[in-house]
Amino acid sequence: MSSDRREAAMQVLERLRSAGVIVTAEGDTLPLHSELPVVEAKLLQRWLRDQRPARILEVGLAYGVSTLSILAALEDPPERYDIIDAFQTRDWHGAGLRHLQEAGIPGGLVFHEELSELCLPRLLAAGARYDFAYIDGWHTFDQVAVEFYFINRMLAPGGVIVFDDVHMPSLQKVLAQVLSFPAYERLPLPDDFRRSRVARVRRAAGVPEYRLAAVRKRAEDRRNWDWFEDF
Ligand SMILES: C[S@@+](CC[C@H](N)C(=O)[O-])C[C@H]1O[C@@H](n2cnc3c(N)ncnc32)[C@H](O)[C@@H]1O
Repeated sequence: MSSDRREAAMQVLERLRSAGVIVTAEGDTLPLHSELPVVEAKLLQRWLRDQRPARILEVGLAYGVSTLSILAALEDPPERYDIIDAFQTRDWHGAGLRHLQEAGIPGGLVFHEELSELCLPRLLAAGARYDFAYIDGWHTFDQVAVEFYFINRMLAPGGVIVFDDVHMPSLQKVLAQVLSFPAYERLPLPDDFRRSRVARVRRAAGVPEYRLAAVRKRAEDRRNWDWFEDF
């Protein structure tokens, strides 16, 4: 991305984070919530910089904090960037989209106001392929497992999926399922993130070091029709 574009995304992000509020189109001020915390956003940005993905998929726009963090980290404009959020208007006052417009929406970015369970099979049928996916939607086991099912079908070998909220039992179970697939491996935390104070404190407390976990698809998923591995 041009440095101007990245700078614009950073500025909108910084404004939202420091104000801690969003302003609706009607002028109402509402608290910012449900957004990716700063420390986790830095980890997501590191993985993006390491991966340099051309094709990105995101579930869960909300007020746009994770998307702005992604845009702020991309060196090159994405070839395609599909974002799915069924409730952008109903629950988020369209504010996430407005924040993206303020930052300047790059070519290739398409927003889908649609349930992920309906949108993902449509994208698959249309032949979409991705190098990087970030999942932060509805956090039940079955919902995320369905999202993973379709994303796996569209993810190129070498591609990465980042899951948010892996401290939740439902997400732990999805992660265990994904890692039972021979094609997938956990992407290790970068050394400086593993050694950080936050990570050390959380390790000592027996909870995941970060809310985010990344997996890499190391090869095509070639499981047989009768493959099963308990998880
Ligand atoms: C935790 S919020 C996302 C936060 C956002 N990633 C951020 O950092 O600001 C979860 C989002 O998922 C969306 N969502 C929930 N269920 C969905 C579904 N079935 N399909 C698509 N979007 C969904 C919600 O509307 C909400 O915007």
